[in-house]
Amino acid sequence: MALFKSSTQAVPEVACVPRHIAMIMDGNGRWAKKRFLPRVAGHKQGVETLREMVKACDELGVEFLTLFAFSSENWRRPQEEVSFLMGLFLTVLEREVNKLDKKGIRLKLIGRRDRFAPEIVRMIEAAEARTAANTGLTLTIAADYGGRWDVLQATQALLRARPDFATGTVDEDALTPYLAMSYAPEPDLFVRTGGEARISNFLLWQLAYTELYFTDVFWPDFDRAQLQIAIDSYRQRERRFGRTSEQLKESAC
Ligand code: FPP
Repeated sequence: MALFKSSTQAVPEVACVPRHIAMIMDGNGRWAKKRFLPRVAGHKQGVETLREMVKACDELGVEFLTLFAFSSENWRRPQEEVSFLMGLFLTVLEREVNKLDKKGIRLKLIGRRDRFAPEIVRMIEAAEARTAANTGLTLTIAADYGGRWDVLQATQALLRARPDFATGTVDEDALTPYLAMSYAPEPDLFVRTGGEARISNFLLWQLAYTELYFTDVFWPDFDRAQLQIAIDSYRQRERRFGRTSEQLKESAC
């Protein structure tokens, strides 16, 4: 049974502070280019924003923060950039897990693991195990993740567990426990920095009724004030989930 009801099956509770924020951290390369720096300098600076977002979301009472760090398609980047990003994941995991654990943050990684180096996989597993019992913010890093991969792997896992479904009808309640983020409610707010207005194969299933927010600000320049603007924009949205305006109660935000 799914932990959280799907937005297409029932109308979720709407809170003033989003329970779950999902972010695409875009614009690192362009941030660096503007400063005549190599692209990787943008990724390095991006880690600072990542740290600030974790802190800010934790303080605001956001329960789930999900960040797209590396897509299934990012392997197509130049080899040196991919290697740099892998090294950066390793360094950040090594350096930050202690601090995250002390703050009661639970760390999760979603995505394929079979294309990462064994040392990265070991580090991921150790970090998840160490923070598994924490009850504060759940920080999810999507790495070698793709929304289509997620739906396909969930379907395959369901059919492995319940071969009888191959001839029957699969419904949402049967499938959703196998999706990579079955431990979280669907995102309330999606933020993409860097000026592009697309989902880029991020949480395709889970974003069905998420409020989308796009900003031209490059990820390394995105800060608490920018986050607040995104949340303020979210608060002004009327989340109807298919209903009419008249059916909604007055918002308390
Ligand atoms: C997109 O910007 C950013 C990425 C593909 C990598 C994001 C990674 C980090 C912020 C740091 C590492 C994260 C962890 C979890 C340790 P882009 O390179 O596409 O920018 P551009 O569109 O300006 O070229």
